[in-house]
Formats: sequence, C-alpha cells, structure tokens
Amino acid sequence: FKSLIVAPCAALYLLLAPVATAAETIVIKFAHVVAEDTPKGKGALLFQKLVRERLGGTVEVEVYPNSSLVGDADEMQALLDNKVQMLAPSLSKFTEYSPKLEVFDLPFLFDDEAAVARFQKREMSRELLRSMADRGIYGLAYWNNGLKQLTANQPLRTPADAAGLAFRIQPSPVLEAQFAAVDAKAVRIPFMDVAKAMQSGTVQGTEGPWSNIRGQSAGTKQTYVTETNHGVLNYMLVTNAKFWTSIPFAVRSELDNILLEVTQTVNAEAASINQRERERILASGSSTLVTLTPEQRQAWRDKMQPVWKSFEAHIGTDVMRAALTVNR
Ligand code: LMR
Repeated sequence: FKSLIVAPCAALYLLLAPVATAAETIVIKFAHVVAEDTPKGKGALLFQKLVRERLGGTVEVEVYPNSSLVGDADEMQALLDNKVQMLAPSLSKFTEYSPKLEVFDLPFLFDDEAAVARFQKREMSRELLRSMADRGIYGLAYWNNGLKQLTANQPLRTPADAAGLAFRIQPSPVLEAQFAAVDAKAVRIPFMDVAKAMQSGTVQGTEGPWSNIRGQSAGTKQTYVTETNHGVLNYMLVTNAKFWTSIPFAVRSELDNILLEVTQTVNAEAASINQRERERILASGSSTLVTLTPEQRQAWRDKMQPVWKSFEAHIGTDVMRAALTVNR
C-alpha cells in the first residue's frame, strides 16, 4: 500500500524537479581586490556582460571589485564556503593550496610575458589548474596581468639600495626569499591595506605590475618605480568545484564558451592596459621612473636567482623543468 503512494509521489517529483531548478537563477558572485579598470576588473565585467546577453535569466554574475565583499585574507575561505563562487587571486596567493604554483613567483624565471603565456598553454599548466581539486577548488583559466616592477620611497638602482627596507609582499614564501636575497624585509599585507602601509611607513616599498601601482600607492608621497620586470603577476580564475559541477551541463558548457572568450580578451589586452597605466602614472608626475641598464638589471638577477634552487624541491623538479623550457 505504501509503495502505491510513494511511487506516484516520486513520479510527480521527477516531473516537477527539473522545472523548479530551471526557474531558479544561478547567481555567481565574482569578488576581486583590484580596481575595475585593471585587466582583472575588466575581465570580470566582460564576463558579467556576456553572461547577461547569452544566459540572461538563467545565470546572473554579480561583480564585487576593490575587496568590497571579501579581501585577500578571507576570499579563499569564502569560496570554499560557497559564499562567493568565483575569484581570480594572483598566482602568489595559492601557496597553502598548491605549492607547485610558487613556480610563477620565482624572480627572473620568465624572460618576458610571451614566455609566461607559452607556459600557461603547456600541459603542465593545465595540470596545475587541477592541482587544488582535492581541496574543492577548480581552476578555470589563467588571466594575465603583467610583469612586476619595484616601487619605493627612494630610487632603487642596485640591490644594495633595497637593503634594510621593508617591502610589502603577497603571502608567498618565494617572495619573502626574493627580498631576503637583497637583504630587505618582506611584510605580508593584503592588497587593500597596501596604500595605508606605505603612508604610515610600515613599508617603504612594494612590487607590482603597472596596472596595480596606482591602487597600491594612492595617497603616498613621491614614489619611484624601478622598471625591473623581475617577476610575474598573473591570476588563476577559480571556482568552488561542488558549485560548478552542480550547474546543469548545457549551462556550464555555455559558461565555458564565454570564459574562453573572456580569457582570450583579457590576455590579449593586459599588456596594453599596463602600458597605458605606465604612461598615465609617469605623465601625472606621481612617480619617477628609474630605468636600469642591462648590467644593473643583471645585478638584481644575480642576487635573486639563487631563490630558484631553494624552492626547487618544494615546487617539484618536473614543474621547474617545464617552466625553464619556455624562454627563447
Ligand atoms: C596583490 O595583492 O598585489 C595582487 O595580487 C592584487 C591583484 O589582485 O592584482
């Protein structure tokens, strides 16, 4: 008798369930820590726009820039708790989840942005997108920003100029070692607090791509930017694996298509956004450019390169070897 009731109920549920799911809009909260006119900020907005155009009513993307919803310190936990569904932290912020990604932080490892782009297309980098799967984090794509410069409240020409200064870093042991290599101190500070730390004198210097320099030195007095191009600051677009696989297949496929398009746009435009920012900063007079001669740059490289060896075992020789093949 019981099954006579259960069976029709189950049948009814099966009939209604897909309808109920389809009617509910899937909300993707995409949080990040930088301004909207940066490569990542623009990428998030383009993703939102294309999703609205092609999946309007089914999926909605909410973008929270400038650490307005979560910041560096709590964003990964928020993703794991499914309070946000998409982030694009810099590759320096995954140490706790995937030490292999520290390869991207090694100073002077990649000769230029083209070399980084080649590495991001290699099979090894595809594997690295999956390297946090056991922690419930799913890597969707690499988004470029650009090569890092050093900024300080005094001109830095030789590595000795940095000795004794405190530099703000992202939470990465490689970056800590990089500054220790030039006898400087490194202080881990969330992006949203960098300008304050510069103003108060907690740190005297930072590093970052041109597109982040305005954000991280706002309100500070005259700064100097030494164009070192010593490392890379790119991103991994990540989502909560459980959330992502819960999206109906057809919708997810369309999201994948959109992401492919957005990734191509972000990566094609990042260099020119940084170039534009460089011109804007220098024209405004807010910073003075320090250009290194090839010999001066080599001196920084000689000091910092030993860091590779100290992290090789931690990162993995297979990853290191793959990265070292992309320079030309
Ligand atoms: C930083 O903390 O300096 C960067 O990771 C910020 C960003 O997202 O570009």
